[in-house]
Amino acid sequence: MFEHIPPFAGDPILSLNEDFHKDPRPYKINLSIGIYFDDAGRIPVLDSVRRAEGRVVAKGGPKPYLPIEGAANFRSAVQVLLFGAEHEAVTSGRVATIQSVGSSGGLKVGADFIARHFPGSGVWVSDPTWDNHRSMFEGAGLAVNTYPYYDAASGGLKFDAMLATLRGLPPKSIVLLHACCHNPTGVDLTAAQWDALIPVLRDAGLIPYLDLAYQGFGDGIEADARAVRALASAGLSFFIANSFSKSMSLYGERAGALSVVCPDAAQAALVLGQMKFTVRRSYSSPPIHGGQVVATVLTDPELRHSWVIELGAMRERILAMRKALHAVLCAKLPGRDFGYFLTQRGMFSYTGMSAAQVDRLREEHAVYMVRSGRICVAGLNTSNVEATAVAMAAVLG
Ligand code: LMR
Repeated sequence: MFEHIPPFAGDPILSLNEDFHKDPRPYKINLSIGIYFDDAGRIPVLDSVRRAEGRVVAKGGPKPYLPIEGAANFRSAVQVLLFGAEHEAVTSGRVATIQSVGSSGGLKVGADFIARHFPGSGVWVSDPTWDNHRSMFEGAGLAVNTYPYYDAASGGLKFDAMLATLRGLPPKSIVLLHACCHNPTGVDLTAAQWDALIPVLRDAGLIPYLDLAYQGFGDGIEADARAVRALASAGLSFFIANSFSKSMSLYGERAGALSVVCPDAAQAALVLGQMKFTVRRSYSSPPIHGGQVVATVLTDPELRHSWVIELGAMRERILAMRKALHAVLCAKLPGRDFGYFLTQRGMFSYTGMSAAQVDRLREEHAVYMVRSGRICVAGLNTSNVEATAVAMAAVLG
């Protein structure tokens, strides 16, 4: 009956993480998956989140189905986090938000919505982008193309080429953008570059689709939402999927959201209705628990304050690891420029290593990274950063 079913080739990120866990070498180092590990190599339980969860559990009560669009307190807390409580887009009711199953679930609901209501639109993603972006949009039946982004020569951005490509796209093309902490390169647009990009998107009639999975890991919670707010203030209509997996260390709770910024409240109501239709015939409604933990952290001033501090400490630790890796590499391979480790932001850096070099690192040194050469800097710690840099230098040198 099922012999014709092709075998699953595995996922370039998740399968690698599974291989890491099967590796018996005790000195192995996991820089593969985008998860924040603390300095002891553990996934942290944030104190603010633990206390919020205690309150949610203590409240107890029945577990009815949530509405299709998710819990009202979660949805409004997400809008305040993304746009700020006073933003006109929020106060005028022109943002349609659903609670989604992680931000991946949100991305997929948005992709299905686009395939149904903008069937002629192609999707344009950065070259490179998160491996799953292409898969998700193609899975929804949309054609996926790339726009220039990463400049391998400088470890920076091909901004002029990016703008030139976007200027030439047909109206209503979907442009997938990373709001901060670009995955996989760590190369972000500066504020000035966002300000130059926004009129291009608007004048060409394009539909931005922002992915904000790492809010708080770049320059801070508010700073990392700058692009979202700037697009909304400029009057663009756009999609934004955001996640609490990393920012609250709640990976398995699958707490995320999809928001669509619309021209007015009447259109937002239409969009919300069709997003609900999409959800109902997909997974019906989201789970309760993770969303309530998130809403409790975001709406209780004391818990929110603690969370901001904890997230700040995670961001600072990543920056310290960037500096440590940079220092050892520069000492081992003088004359080479590793400055990009310091300028790239968020959990990821593109090392510029080839797939063959990545394979050697894994096989000979038990250092795991994605074959594109991406490392998760948050997998480094004071005990393994030196060994990582030495191994990288051995393979590069
Ligand atoms: C990553 O890029 O490693 C993370 O976003 C985890 C995932 O689902 O791929």
